[in-house]
Amino acid sequence: MSSTVGKSLRAAALLSFVVLSILVSLLISSVHHFGANMSKPSSCGEGDEYDEELALNYQLMQRRQEIIPLIFRPEDKKSIFPAHGSSWDLNMWREITRGSGDPMGCGALQDMQAVEVLGSGYTKLVVKVTLAGGEDVALKMVNEQGIDMGKCVEDFKDPHGCRQLVSYKLSKEVALLHRLQHPNVIKFKGHCVGEAAGRVTVILEQGNPLQMIQLLQSPWEDRFRVCLDLVRLLHFLSQSPLGSVALLDFQPRQFVMVSGELKLTDLDDASAAETTCWSDGDCSLQFPHRNFTLSCSSRGVCEGLNEKMNIYNAYRYFFTYLLPHQAPPGLTHLVDHIMNATGELKANMNETLETFEHILHLYQSGLHLDNMPPSLLADYSVMSNMTTSGNAEYRCWPSYSQHGCVLSVHSAREAAYICNSHSQCSSFTLSGQKTWTGHLLASFRSSFSQLVPEQTSEVYVKKSRALETPAL
Ligand SMILES: Nc1ncnc2c1ncn2[C@@H]1O[C@H](COP(=O)(O)OP(=O)(O)O)[C@@H](O)[C@H]1O
Ligand SMILES: *[C@@H]1O[C@H](CO)[C@@H](O)[C@H](O)[C@H]1NC(C)=O
Ligand SMILES: *[C@@H]1O[C@H](CO)[C@@H](O)[C@H](O)[C@H]1NC(C)=O
Ligand SMILES: *[C@@H]1O[C@H](CO)[C@@H](O)[C@H](O)[C@H]1NC(C)=O
Ligand SMILES: *[C@@H]1O[C@H](CO)[C@@H](O)[C@H](O)[C@H]1NC(C)=O
Ligand SMILES: *[C@@H]1O[C@H](CO)[C@@H](O)[C@H](O)[C@H]1NC(C)=O
Ligand SMILES: [Mg+2]
Repeated sequence: MSSTVGKSLRAAALLSFVVLSILVSLLISSVHHFGANMSKPSSCGEGDEYDEELALNYQLMQRRQEIIPLIFRPEDKKSIFPAHGSSWDLNMWREITRGSGDPMGCGALQDMQAVEVLGSGYTKLVVKVTLAGGEDVALKMVNEQGIDMGKCVEDFKDPHGCRQLVSYKLSKEVALLHRLQHPNVIKFKGHCVGEAAGRVTVILEQGNPLQMIQLLQSPWEDRFRVCLDLVRLLHFLSQSPLGSVALLDFQPRQFVMVSGELKLTDLDDASAAETTCWSDGDCSLQFPHRNFTLSCSSRGVCEGLNEKMNIYNAYRYFFTYLLPHQAPPGLTHLVDHIMNATGELKANMNETLETFEHILHLYQSGLHLDNMPPSLLADYSVMSNMTTSGNAEYRCWPSYSQHGCVLSVHSAREAAYICNSHSQCSSFTLSGQKTWTGHLLASFRSSFSQLVPEQTSEVYVKKSRALETPAL
């Protein structure tokens, strides 16, 4: 029994190797055939149609060439033609071409129900579907109305060939999703390659497009989380299995939120290529309002270019909007330091992550509140296992609830400090609900009509001066 399995596995491995070898020889022969002037083949005398076909074939070949390095194991990096077929990552190739190793394949898409369009870009269309089992997932496919498809059809007048060309971007994304697994990269569930080659559908966990406007109005703690997630992702990318990876199309729309966590979803423009150089002058990094010159290493590559490109993009698209505004007073010096170090490219990814984790640590342990008076709670009476009803609410900003004033606090003491600073506040409740950092949600109010039993909830009522003074 097991020997049969072994045999068929070996056969499958052999088959995959053959497929791959054919592909490589195809690439080589097409390079030989068409020479270096492929993008503008001429003088064949066969007219435009022939030229267009050749040019499209050339582009298809280039796209395949982009994917092949992604399916090597790291030890193959030095040699493009390894001595033994076994050192190719055969399983990965099989997964990419047929989806055989994925948790979900074409079968999972039977009897699914389309729910809504989640988003679209130049290349891809993403829809939310409910699978037969009831699970919601996101499906990525070629965007027939997208700019990529439109330009290709205009140039080559071959919708079928173009669909295949654009599909290679999805195949590249599948290869990258395999190699770059991280909590802040969208979870890959599988893919389906349709009967007519060139119909690639990728199955992903479903998220929600990043709403920058909404995020700008969120509490600092939530905005900090997005930045921290991004930095953790970029740190991983700076030393990933593929080397240091740059996100060439770095914009908020390439990310989605999955239960409060930021995840990268558009990977087809990720690149691990290094920039070669003769001198520092070759290593310039240009942005609309800022240029940098990096150093050219003795190896002849621009030192940390991919990492630095990511850091500056994180600064200009995320940190400037999300980080400084309403940062806790005890942390502003560290936030200012991050803004300056990333905006000037003075810190590398390791240092940037370290500072972010340090801020998280201070925030979670409440160390940034050290200068708060210790005896604040003496002014309050506490009622355990109680909540209030008949509340008179007031609004505050940035509240976790639209109806009243609900804020994240480190402790009852910080809540008391906040209550004292709000003229309307006379009591607050700690419900036992926690935020992602482990902070407590405190509801502040101006008055309530009665106390109601409620496990794990505590009500703090400000002792009235009127009651205290007669005792004197
Ligand atoms: N897993 C997902 N869940 C929800 N929305 C998604 C998901 N993946 C992508 N999207 C949305 O679809 C849009 C297009 O996807 P993307 O991969 O960026 O395509 P393109 O390469 O064409 O830009 C994204 O901007 C995002 O808003
Ligand atoms: C490519 O074409 C250009 C003119 O279009 C020509 O000058 C050049 O020599 C060609 N290169 C090769 C390698 O054929
Ligand atoms: C950046 O460099 C480019 C090309 O050298 C130049 O045109 C541009 O003005 C520079 N931008 C800034 C902000 O210095
Ligand atoms: C960083 O700090 C220096 C000196 O204080 C200042 O000139 C510069 O504008 C700051 N840069 C950024 C991006 O905040
Ligand atoms: C970051 O740290 C890792 C190991 O922790 C190290 O290998 C790498 O060289 C560091 N990168 C930089 C730019 O210092
Ligand atoms: C609140 O309820 C918990 C759980 O039932 C109990 O252990 C605790 O003693 C109660 N606290 C007070 C002050 O009654
Ligand atoms: Mg995109």
